[in-house]
Amino acid sequence: MKFDTPAGANPIDQGRHIGRAVDRIDGALKTSGTARYAYEHPLPEAPAYGYVVGAAIAKGKIAGLHLKEARSAPGVLAIVTARSAGELGKGKKNVAPLLAGPDVQHYHQAVAVVVARTFEQARAAAALLRIDYQEEPGSFDLDKARPAAVEPEMPDAGDLSVGDFDRAFEAAEVAFDAEYRTPDQSHAMMEPHSTTAAWDGDELTIWTSSQMVDWWRTDLAATLKVPKDKVRVVSPFIGGGFGGKLFLRSDALLAALAARAAQRPVKVALHRPLVFNNTTHRPATHQRIRIGADRSGRIQAIAHESWSGNLPGGVPETAVQQTQLLYAGQHRRTALRVAPLDLPEGNAMRAPGEAPGLMALEIAIDEMAEQLGMDPVALRILNDTQVDPARPHRRFSQRQLVECLRLGAERFGWSRRVAHGSRREGDWLVGLGVAAAFRNNLVQKSGACVRLDRDGRITVETDMTDIGTGSYTVIAQTAAEMLGVPVEQVTVRLGDSRYPVSAGSGGQWGGNSATAGVYAACVKLREQVARQLRLPAADAVFADGQVRAGGRSAPLAAAAGPNGLAAEDAMEYGDLDKQFQQSTFGAHFVEAAVDAFTGEIRVRRMLAVCAAGRILNPKTARSQVIGAMTMGVGAALMEELVVDRRLGCFINHDLAAYEVPVHADIPHQEVVFLDETDPVSSPMKATGVGELGLCGVAAAIANAVHNATGVRVRDYPVTLDKLLYRLPEVA
Ligand code: MOS
Repeated sequence: MKFDTPAGANPIDQGRHIGRAVDRIDGALKTSGTARYAYEHPLPEAPAYGYVVGAAIAKGKIAGLHLKEARSAPGVLAIVTARSAGELGKGKKNVAPLLAGPDVQHYHQAVAVVVARTFEQARAAAALLRIDYQEEPGSFDLDKARPAAVEPEMPDAGDLSVGDFDRAFEAAEVAFDAEYRTPDQSHAMMEPHSTTAAWDGDELTIWTSSQMVDWWRTDLAATLKVPKDKVRVVSPFIGGGFGGKLFLRSDALLAALAARAAQRPVKVALHRPLVFNNTTHRPATHQRIRIGADRSGRIQAIAHESWSGNLPGGVPETAVQQTQLLYAGQHRRTALRVAPLDLPEGNAMRAPGEAPGLMALEIAIDEMAEQLGMDPVALRILNDTQVDPARPHRRFSQRQLVECLRLGAERFGWSRRVAHGSRREGDWLVGLGVAAAFRNNLVQKSGACVRLDRDGRITVETDMTDIGTGSYTVIAQTAAEMLGVPVEQVTVRLGDSRYPVSAGSGGQWGGNSATAGVYAACVKLREQVARQLRLPAADAVFADGQVRAGGRSAPLAAAAGPNGLAAEDAMEYGDLDKQFQQSTFGAHFVEAAVDAFTGEIRVRRMLAVCAAGRILNPKTARSQVIGAMTMGVGAALMEELVVDRRLGCFINHDLAAYEVPVHADIPHQEVVFLDETDPVSSPMKATGVGELGLCGVAAAIANAVHNATGVRVRDYPVTLDKLLYRLPEVA
């Protein structure tokens, strides 16, 4: 089915199932521990265990591999290195090879997998491996590499110039210019990257933890140099991804190679200390923001430049994209520069681009408001735009930023905020902060197969994944709505490359795109059902297990026949995203308290107001947003991969030293969704929300800290050492 004109009325609008707070249909499997994750996949024969060894240098060559001692260690079945692996190809989506040798491109890049009968034997043998390295100097410091940064070779990366920024900025009545820094961050998902691999002759199956089943299948086949149809990827349950499992990773490749070498199924999990340097991370940024406005606060000139680093061939962090679209202003410039760094590969992490971009932009807007003597909510509202400022013929398909800000301000008690000087509560300085949320809405082709059995049961199959987002549930709701059956009558099977290729879970496109694919398959199935029941398809109503049309009705199940009915289709998109700018909007409000003596920061209240198309399920959507807000607290106050500039690695590579929020750090979180449908996004009229929830949170916290203390911190995370000596004299 092709989607190239805005959606009209359709069965999804009925809202019998869609839009309801349905409990997760996979919830009991998760809470009872019976959902099988990749590493737990049961096998008919005893598996072997692979232990991955990461490179001990950041750049250079493997000069010698001494495997003898490890080979003769108890239980060892095989050791796979680049030398023994045979010729490997390279996946399209991997920058650095997943198995290094002889060249090493980054610290903890896999150099070997040791396979043994037990995990402990594999780990013990891995410690006996002796590897000689020829180390080469590398570039690990963004400050030093920055002058060498270049415009990335990708279309529409971020460079855009409208009007004459320099002149308008020069002439502005009020001008602001500052630089911000965001650190390298790690996805830190609960489930480390894990794979169980088994060969059957020349056919490989991996049970893995992947956000994008078809990307992994394609790249694994390419890397192993085997036909794609010989590779099956299964990923039904995923313990979090946040972008860290978008692309094929070393656990999957090494499990496949290890299983081939050991001639039995092999399980490989990246041990936690390996995850941080072996896999991808969100790259650090330096961002310069300049804003020029008239005295009333109207923005006339706005510029946002961002520098980040990556391995040669790697992508930049696209931190300037929201600045092209969020606020009005006639003269504008954005620029993106990427510098060569020999740190591990930088890549997508939840809301790549906007998340770090708004960490900077939304403090800058707060600073501008302060300089203008304006309320920061009012300044944002004043500079709203309903069209793409660079291409004024393109309207936003939906844009309720102003409504989010107004409603949020009212609900949060924003009017009680004191612009200068905070509220004092004992030792605590208390402040309020706000930030706008913005994330583009992307759509992706997505397919599904829907079957009707003679007992009226519906089965949906698609290679879509559920990374904790609620895909199982919203897909069941979609099929139930389209076919007029209760949600309990729908079985959803996900995450298997034997099923039709879906949008997968990435870029907050999964919910809308995957359900739209199910919608397309259901439309086809409805036509088949009507034909079987000899009812006119055009005006058939599917409800309560019945199909009604032309004054007649018949049970849905009667259409199935003895063998059932099945329909497969995919939703494909035309150019509506070119005709309209599709984005999602929100506003974050935060109350923070800072200890006047120690600088300790506590987030006390959080509110997010989101306008993100039709909310398919307010319960799973809220869960996405509160999870994202929690991640935003981490980004604001804790998360930072610390670069060791001598070794060229992230030195705090475990969950003890890479800090993320725990329960005690998180206060009550409130989420409000505005009533909205977006007929331009898909027949579901939904958009993304899972990444929107993160966008702006960290800046709202930093702004609240500033409101509380008067201290402006421009480099994240906002930790107490950056406040301590600048706190007001209050004692
Ligand atoms: Mo997202 S960073 O595309 O999983």
